[in-house]
Amino acid sequence: MGSTEGAGKSRPKGHKKPLIRLRDCSKVHDNGTVALSGVSLAIDGGEWVTVTGRSGAGKSTLLGIIGSLDRPTSGTVTVGGQRLDGMTVRELAEFRSTTVGFVFQRYYLLPYLNVLENVTLAQHFCKGEDIAAAKEVLRGLGLGNRLDHLPDQLSGGEQQRVCIARAVINGPRVLLADEPTGNLDRVNSGSVFEALVRLHREGTTIVLVTHDSALATWGTRVVRLTDGKLVSSDAVKEGTARRSSSGAKQHVGAGP
Ligand SMILES: Nc1ncnc2c1ncn2[C@@H]1O[C@H](COP(=O)(O)OP(=O)(O)OP(=O)(O)O)[C@@H](O)[C@H]1O
Ligand SMILES: [Mg+2]
Repeated sequence: MGSTEGAGKSRPKGHKKPLIRLRDCSKVHDNGTVALSGVSLAIDGGEWVTVTGRSGAGKSTLLGIIGSLDRPTSGTVTVGGQRLDGMTVRELAEFRSTTVGFVFQRYYLLPYLNVLENVTLAQHFCKGEDIAAAKEVLRGLGLGNRLDHLPDQLSGGEQQRVCIARAVINGPRVLLADEPTGNLDRVNSGSVFEALVRLHREGTTIVLVTHDSALATWGTRVVRLTDGKLVSSDAVKEGTARRSSSGAKQHVGAGP
């Protein structure tokens, strides 16, 4: 399990380096709003960390900083041994296309590209298009019969699963998901959640922001933010995310 520096947990001696480490990170906007305040957090490879907290607590800011979409105004972020603040523009672009994948509440699919094209576009900016690989990932997410559909011809859960395919197509070590089920009903959110469970079982490290109390008890650890500060970090008993995907269905009360 990882640790939350500053939340009273110590790392055992000889423990391997965390995959993600934030040291004393703050984000103060130009208008003076403090979005994040002195957050220190270490996340090990293979963890599933759920981030909770009220609206405005700094959850999206934290995710954006881990994924280099945003920069802290002070403090440092290291992912996979690389300090993000020391990276060139080119290195940052590569980091975003290979090391992290993002899934957002508002899908951000390109409306004029079909399912397959939305995913191969993400490959295009990394290793180059590989249609067979894209089809395989989409089939694995239950979208094999939707490849030529446009986003507005899909349900919310299907659209979000396309976003997951796009996020993982280049094999990132970390999946950052910001309220991925926030717009979905229980059936659709069950299908999205099951996809996350499977990715986690396959070794992807997940950092998930959610308001859904059922999802918040999932994973290996729950961290809570209040007014930009990290106020708690609690291990989830037994690491429930490692259970079978049928367990995921039962847990959220719905399946695809
Ligand atoms: N560009 C900005 N300029 C000024 N303040 C900002 C900016 N972006 C975010 N904030 C503020 O920073 C704080 C944290 O925002 P953040 O989006 O991280 O919250 P959140 O926990 O994700 O909230 P929600 O659950 O509503 O999505 C909020 O008070 C927000 O108003
Ligand atoms: Mg948010």
